[in-house]
Amino acid sequence: MNLIFLGPPGAGKGTQAVRVCERLGIPQISTGDILRSAIRNQTPTGLAAKSYIDKGELVPDSVMIDIVRERLAHADCAGGFLLDGFPRTVAQAQALKGFASIDAVIDIDVSDETLVARLSGRRVCPACGGTYHVSRLAGATTCEKCGQTLVQRDDDKAETVLSRLAVYHAQTEPLIGFYTQRGLIRKIDGAQPVDDCFAAILRALGEGK
Ligand code: AP5
Repeated sequence: MNLIFLGPPGAGKGTQAVRVCERLGIPQISTGDILRSAIRNQTPTGLAAKSYIDKGELVPDSVMIDIVRERLAHADCAGGFLLDGFPRTVAQAQALKGFASIDAVIDIDVSDETLVARLSGRRVCPACGGTYHVSRLAGATTCEKCGQTLVQRDDDKAETVLSRLAVYHAQTEPLIGFYTQRGLIRKIDGAQPVDDCFAAILRALGEGK
């Protein structure tokens, strides 16, 4: 199955993508993770992307399209894949049509108020990518999977979160109409608890009970 996860920052795309990919045995292709890895490794792409990400803006389409086209050519995508964070503009969606077919687009819907609370409380593990929320950490500061000290993403600071939401509404939300016209959208209530959200996604994909 070739899938796209669409939704605003903090909707739970990454949280659900890990579970769905494990269940379906397909790779999670998170463009945010690819960019953060490039920044850590100080590659030319990473150095160029950092200034956009730090301001909450989108990295230019041409860069993102090349990254995803190259990644989808890897052998592990032959049996399906889940795109988490791509496409984010109509230009990216148009380009994607040229090198991949898509079976379903999961649109995870959450109010802006809830998103701000989620992102400002998010803590991530820089080693294994584990994602947590301070409200459920009970004071813990290390990753329960690998023991690394948890950190706050630079772009989860309050002022950057508001820019990311504005960018989402202006540039990414139009993709809901783009994929609705193509009959691919499956809307999920992302305000539900994580397990309920996961069950709803599986049902929407015809994989649930
Ligand atoms: P990216 O890393 O993709 O960030 P994002 O889309 O803003 O999404 P997030 O990772 O912030 O949130 P999420 O939906 O995955 O939520 P999560 O599961 O972590 O992109 C970062 C930047 O890279 C962009 O701003 C842009 O600059 C650039 N970029 C990336 N792709 C690009 C592209 N295609 N084009 C151009 N630029 C691009 O959950 C959030 C929090 O909520 C966590 O704390 C989690 O524990 C909690 N949570 C999750 N689900 C629930 C639930 N059901 N109930 C309660 N809490 C929950």
